[in-house]
Amino acid sequence: MSYEVVIDIHDVSKTYRYFNTPAERLKQLLFKRNREKNGYFSALSKVSLKVSKGEKVGIIGRNGSGKSTLLQIIAGILTPSSGNVHVKGRVAALLELGSGFNPEFTGKENVFLNGAIFGLTHEQIEEKFDEIVNFSEIGDFINQPVKTYSSGMFVRLAFSVAVHVNPEILIVDEALAVGDVFFQRKCFSKIDELNRDGCTLIYVTHELANLKQVVNRAILLDKGELKFDGSPVDAVNKFYKNVYGIPLHEKKLDDVSDVYPSNSLHLKDRERYGTQFAQIESVIINGADGTVWSGKSLKLKLLIRAKDNVDFLVFGIRVKTKTGIDVFASNTRDEGIILDDLVADSSYEFQLEFENFNLIAGEYFLSLALGSQQGDNYIPVDHRIDAVNLKVLQAEKSTGITNLQPKISITKGASI
Ligand SMILES: Nc1ncnc2c1ncn2[C@@H]1O[C@H](COP(=O)(O)OP(=O)(O)OP(=O)(O)O)[C@@H](O)[C@H]1O
Ligand SMILES: [Mg+2]
Repeated sequence: MSYEVVIDIHDVSKTYRYFNTPAERLKQLLFKRNREKNGYFSALSKVSLKVSKGEKVGIIGRNGSGKSTLLQIIAGILTPSSGNVHVKGRVAALLELGSGFNPEFTGKENVFLNGAIFGLTHEQIEEKFDEIVNFSEIGDFINQPVKTYSSGMFVRLAFSVAVHVNPEILIVDEALAVGDVFFQRKCFSKIDELNRDGCTLIYVTHELANLKQVVNRAILLDKGELKFDGSPVDAVNKFYKNVYGIPLHEKKLDDVSDVYPSNSLHLKDRERYGTQFAQIESVIINGADGTVWSGKSLKLKLLIRAKDNVDFLVFGIRVKTKTGIDVFASNTRDEGIILDDLVADSSYEFQLEFENFNLIAGEYFLSLALGSQQGDNYIPVDHRIDAVNLKVLQAEKSTGITNLQPKISITKGASI
């Protein structure tokens, strides 16, 4: 691991002036004295960030939180209003769709144009040209003007150029979301390949479920401010909390061992938030000490205690591997199941069964969630993230996440 700092941003702010009406914009241009009437808008305020060579950093936040602004500043396309920016190494940036591409030019002309912007000579681009076109898989369209391309084709070519110019810093703003899933897979594996050679990745995305598989550090921006810098999982959790605006309730559970004396699991959530109008108090399973046999059934009983009424109730469950990969997630709302309202000062038992819990041996985490769907608005009531730790045992030696149980037969001398 190298600790060479390749991006060093200190106290960076970007301010835009805003105008209440187009007429005011004009007046402001014409008459100096009107200037004070309009305000300033901070797209980024006092952001400091150091990134070492080879790090993979995600940037997340709501629409308008300043992500693209920060990327553009790192890429050197935008100058900050104040603060210092030091970026070391060749930067290849995939910013808003097709920036740097001229729609009137053919794909081929754009490859040369773009390559030159990234600092390659004509000869160097010629040398890589076939590789770039092959990777993009756009075939003969390379000789068509890019204005005839679909957005996916556009991204394929732009990405292909960006990764073939030997970037030391690769900046990707959402762009990959446009490609189909097969191309995305190919891009991520190319990114990994570059990263193994020391390329630093800065990646903006709204696809939070997979974030931890792509980056090893994440930054949360909120209204232009850096709110969190740390593990991707923590950043995503903070993001959800910010979005819902509901503070974390630290209050620990009462001892409920008298209710469920045996097989009651120790709930040790990594994160807990919600209104707490109702609480998931305890969980018991059909295996002792949180152990389950692969391929057998897993039954869960949850004790829920409501302090207040909860209507439009939603119950959700998520199963993750120890490394944070989502194995399964679902909730009653998406399954079209309507639950009864919870009534204040009552307790409830929820029962849940996975008929065939076909996971490979290992440690898994269950997150359990109660919420309330108020029209378009989802309000977390008790979200207990990674609350239950399950150990799956199995007799066979297969590896991976789930046992797909293939049936294999071999026939000698088959005619095709
Ligand atoms: N040229 C500009 N003039 C005025 N305001 C701007 C300009 N560019 C960006 N902004 C404002 O700065 C804020 C941050 O914009 P930015 O594009 O960085 O957000 P973002 O986090 O990338 O959002 P998204 O998720 O929608 O892509 C927004 O409120 C936007 O309106
Ligand atoms: Mg953006």
